[in-house]
Amino acid sequence: MRIGYYQFRPQFGRVSQNLLTITTALREAVADLLVLPELAFTGYYFRDRAEAYRLAEDPDDSPVFEALKALCREKRFHIVTGFAERRGANCYNSAALLGPDGLIHVYRKLHLFHDERQWFDPGDVPLRVLSISGARVGIMVCYDWAFPEVARSLALHGAEIICHPANLVLSFCQQTMLTRSLENHVYAVTANRYGTDSRPQGRLRFTGRSQIAGPDGKCLHRAPAQRNELFVMDVDLAIARDKHITPLSDLFADRRPEWYAELTR
Ligand code: ACM
Repeated sequence: MRIGYYQFRPQFGRVSQNLLTITTALREAVADLLVLPELAFTGYYFRDRAEAYRLAEDPDDSPVFEALKALCREKRFHIVTGFAERRGANCYNSAALLGPDGLIHVYRKLHLFHDERQWFDPGDVPLRVLSISGARVGIMVCYDWAFPEVARSLALHGAEIICHPANLVLSFCQQTMLTRSLENHVYAVTANRYGTDSRPQGRLRFTGRSQIAGPDGKCLHRAPAQRNELFVMDVDLAIARDKHITPLSDLFADRRPEWYAELTR
């Protein structure tokens, strides 16, 4: 299975330009599954909810999604991409899984970060795992990294690869995702953006350093902080299916959930 990411610098509000940047880069990729950053088409630092809503896509009626579906058909690969989602009057910070047969799933970010609560509705769909090209894939978005329950839930649902679109402004996530990968014995692809959103209300700088973490907790590859990078590598999913960390220690069989009731209170 060949998995990877595209790290780039979205231009705020320039949806068509960002789509062209993405499709041009991905046309060069030979991969089964590629992950793009959070809010890849709009940029991140919205002035208000009305601006986020105006720039958002309805996946059922969207030239952006039509272009992505056509690209997946042409290249025979799958994409997970962050995007601003419009559904009726609601607006979500979402991530879509698309493949050669079209749109497969939309995940809506459960844990909104900082100002995001002013722009988006909180996620309202269950965490799910989808089967593609012989792999089981789960999705989480950026700040979900700080909640180990998300990666654990995806892994318990059978995820072998966690796709993790991100727009990181802090420095903790990359190191933390190595632990998420180790404790769940999964691969995790964190696709971050870089560059700056300069807006009337201020500036935000994003930290790049996208990465692929392995089931042994090792960083298999990490991008530079402030540069475009399309990266793809082969991974062995059998390693992610086996939850043993010693012959007698199975990370899932050894759990004691009857003692974790606080976690769901
Ligand atoms: C974030 O959740 N975009 C930091």
